[in-house]
Amino acid sequence: MINKKLSFQIRKRRSVYPSEFTKKKLSDDIVKELLLNANHAPSHKLTQPWFFKVFSGKSKEKLATEISKLNPLKSNTNILKKFELSSHIICICLRESKKVPYWEEIASTAMAVQNIWISLVDSKNIGGYWSTPKNISKLKYFLKLDKNEECLGLFYLGVYDKINNRNIKRKNINDDIIWHN
Ligand SMILES: Cc1cc2nc3c(=O)[nH]c(=O)nc-3n(C[C@H](O)[C@H](O)[C@H](O)COP(=O)(O)O)c2cc1C
Repeated sequence: MINKKLSFQIRKRRSVYPSEFTKKKLSDDIVKELLLNANHAPSHKLTQPWFFKVFSGKSKEKLATEISKLNPLKSNTNILKKFELSSHIICICLRESKKVPYWEEIASTAMAVQNIWISLVDSKNIGGYWSTPKNISKLKYFLKLDKNEECLGLFYLGVYDKINNRNIKRKNINDDIIWHN
């Protein structure tokens, strides 16, 4: 039997954006627990390709400066504000094993992020979302990534008081299931 409670938890998962964060700082222990959950994602041949570079406190400013440089045409005031309101910024990274197709490494890393995201449901006001800034691949140098490593995006993590209601209309999944009996 399906665990209905878990189904509801999964359906409650949502993106919470930095504009909704309060600047409150989470303990590193909370972040460690989230990343421990991330580490339980599945991976083909157990390559476990995900790894994370976590920024908080002063280091967030350095990362924000680098992110601003990625897209010089965009004002960096917005990015600085987002970083200021967030508690931790997790750089979502992948290490290619070459043992499985690259897309499988990306899929596994995304599942690791999904574990973080689902862990935030009913967490007493911890929220987050995945952001993929333009030219994120150029962050490689700042993050000191090796040739076989890549940063896929940022996971903003923060504490909110209340969340704005977003009307997210999910497609009707029945329209996209073809049953063969
Ligand atoms: C791989 C990935 C990349 C994303 N990148 C961005 C992004 O760059 N900017 C953004 O506003 N949202 C981004 N999102 C969040 C989506 O916009 C969000 O998941 C979607 O609106 C559905 O909302 P929900 O997460 O609350 O269900 C990303 C989500 C995923 C899975």
